[in-house]
Amino acid sequence: MQDETIDIHGQTLLVTGAAGFIGSRVARLLLAAERPPSKVIGLDSLNDYYSPQLKRARLAQLADAALDSDCAWRFVQADIADRAALEAVFADYRPSLVIHLAAQAGVRHSIECPQAYIDSNVIGFFNLLEACRHHPVRHLVYASSSSVYGDSHKQPYAEHDRTDSPVSLYAATKKCDELLAAAYASLYRIPATALRLFTVYGPWGRPDMACIRFADRMAAGQDIPLFADGQGWRDFTYIDDTASGILRVLARPPQGLPPHQVLNLGHGHPVTVRQFVAELHDALAAAGALPEGYDLAAHLQSLPAQPGDVEATFADTTALERHCGHRADTPLSEGLRRFADWYVRWWLPNRP
Ligand SMILES: NC(=O)c1ccc[n+]([C@@H]2O[C@H](COP(=O)([O-])OP(=O)(O)OC[C@H]3O[C@@H](n4cnc5c(N)ncnc54)[C@H](O)[C@@H]3O)[C@@H](O)[C@H]2O)c1
Repeated sequence: MQDETIDIHGQTLLVTGAAGFIGSRVARLLLAAERPPSKVIGLDSLNDYYSPQLKRARLAQLADAALDSDCAWRFVQADIADRAALEAVFADYRPSLVIHLAAQAGVRHSIECPQAYIDSNVIGFFNLLEACRHHPVRHLVYASSSSVYGDSHKQPYAEHDRTDSPVSLYAATKKCDELLAAAYASLYRIPATALRLFTVYGPWGRPDMACIRFADRMAAGQDIPLFADGQGWRDFTYIDDTASGILRVLARPPQGLPPHQVLNLGHGHPVTVRQFVAELHDALAAAGALPEGYDLAAHLQSLPAQPGDVEATFADTTALERHCGHRADTPLSEGLRRFADWYVRWWLPNRP
C-alpha cells in the first residue's frame, strides 16, 4: 500500500471537544493554517465539569480568529452521548476528517463520578464510530491517554507495552475506546489513530489540572500540596506541541490493515512534579503573578499518594517521529513562561 498524505486544504473537518483546552487550540491552528480546510465544525456540550465561562471564552477567541480566516467556522452545541444529535451533525456537514477530543477527562474525578465517563467516553465514542461508519471519513484521530499504561514500572512507555491493567475508570474508558476503534477499523475499514496524550499544559488550560491549580495557590499565597511528596514523574507536554502533533498525524492515516494505529504524543523529557512546581514558581514570579516575598520552600506540603495516580509517566516518542516526523520540542521553561503570561493577562482578571 502507498503512503497516503492527506491535504486538509478544502476539506470539512469536525473537531469534537472544540471548547476544551486541546480542542480549542487545534481549531485555532486549523483556522490559522496557510492552506486551511474549507470548513471547521466545532462540537462541544459545554458541560460544567469546569467553568463553561472559560469554554465560552475559548469559543469567542475562535470566532474572532475565523474573521481573519478563509476557513468557515461553525459551532454546534451537542452531546456526543446523544446519538441522534451526533448523527445529524454528520448528515448536515459530512466531515471528511474527524479530530475527536470530547471526553470526560480527569483521573481523580472518575472515582467520584463514574457515570459521566461511561456516557461520554464509552457511549459517546461508540456513537462517533457509528456516525463514521454511516458517513465514511478519510481519517479519525482520537484522544487516548498515557493513563492506559497503568502503573507499569517500565519507562519510557512504548505503544507495544501492556495496557490491560488500568488503575482508574478514566484509563479503562480510554483503553475501551482503542479496542472499539480497532474493531471498527477491522470491520468497516474506518482509518483511525489513537493518540496517547501525556499531561498537557499551557495557556487556556484546564482549571482541574496541576498547572492552574498550583498557580492559583501560589498567587493566593497558599501552601502547595505535593501528593507522593511530588516525586511522581510526568511528561509535561506543551499545548502547541500537542495540537500541532495532532494535525501532523491527521495528515498521515494508518497504512496497514486493519487501518488502526496507536501512537504516543508526549514530550519525552519527564520531570518530577516537585521540579515542575519550582519552574512554575519561577515563571509566575517573573510575570509578576505572586505576592511579594512568597517563599515556595516554606509552602511545600508533602502528602501521601492518591488513589488512581501513577508513579511515573514518560513517553517513548520514536514511533510518532517515524510516522510523521513530529517532535514536541518546547522546553518546559519556555512553555511555562507562555503559560504565566496568559495567567497574568487573562486568567487572573477573568478567573471564573
Ligand atoms: N489535557 C491532558 O493532559 C490530556 C491527557 C491525556 C488525554 N487527554 C484527552 O484529550 C482530550 C481533550 O482533553 P482536554 O484537556 O482538552 O479536556 P477538556 O475537558 O478541556 O475538553 C474536553 C471537551 O469535551 C467536552 N465534552 C465532554 N463530554 C462531552 C460530550 N459528552 N459531548 C460533547 N462534548 C463533551 C467538554 O465540554 C470539553 O470542552 C480528552 O479526550 C482527554 O481525555 C487530555
